[in-house]
Amino acid sequence: MEVIIQPDYHQLTTVASEIIRDALLKKPNLVLGLATGSTPIGLYKALVRMYKEDRLDFSEVTTFNLDEYVGIPYQHPQSYHTFMANYFFDHVNIPKENQHIPQNTTENHEAFCEVYEETIKRAGGIDIQVLGIGTDGHIGFNEASSSLASRTRIKTLSRSTLEANAAHFGGDVNAVPEMAITMGIGTIMEAKQCLLLANGVSKADAIAKAIEGPITSMVPASILQMHSKTVVLIDETAASDLKEVEYYKRSYANKLKLQSR
Ligand code: GLP
Repeated sequence: MEVIIQPDYHQLTTVASEIIRDALLKKPNLVLGLATGSTPIGLYKALVRMYKEDRLDFSEVTTFNLDEYVGIPYQHPQSYHTFMANYFFDHVNIPKENQHIPQNTTENHEAFCEVYEETIKRAGGIDIQVLGIGTDGHIGFNEASSSLASRTRIKTLSRSTLEANAAHFGGDVNAVPEMAITMGIGTIMEAKQCLLLANGVSKADAIAKAIEGPITSMVPASILQMHSKTVVLIDETAASDLKEVEYYKRSYANKLKLQSR
């Protein structure tokens, strides 16, 4: 795992946007796995800025979102369809037909999930999967105890996730949809690269467990230790429970030194 610690949120999302920009310049038909939540908002803003000011071209990009609530319409202000339109899709030139988000209104979840997996395969697999992390270590909506080999499926949200997400539903935990469709952990692990972003002290415990703890389904993000190309990008506060901060910082400084030769 490559752990990159940045002084603050702005700088961590800047580094994340540069990783995606560099990959896109090398491969114009990049396949991106995308996440929602407050964490990647700065990344989307930076990419929109690159599109508008630097003419970064997304016209051949394909995207697959990690997850979506079940049981609320696309147009709901808190649906992940609305989130992606507001923060990213409405502001860059990714063709509509290349944007994939799990369907929240499907009658047949099982068939839909199979089609979603197939569509990812047909696109050639995900090149870079952007991930946030829940305070309990979940990725996507793969809650603690999710199979580490799971595929796209419907999941019931844990109490802690419902409580964390209630803030987006007027503080009413009962208004948060109880179920979601999420890419599985096995699906995420097939991405060629994973980019896990976290900021703030509320994520420090989950980050320490995911990076330095044992691999366990009780901390789904810990499976990323088995991924050959994962970059964890965090700010100082999210890094505050890590034991090996000095090592991660020195490793990253050495990488930059080698790159500048
Ligand atoms: C939700 C999403 C996750 C996200 C997590 C953390 O559960 N399904 O993909 O990583 O929230 O969100 P935030 O970035 O707002 O802390």
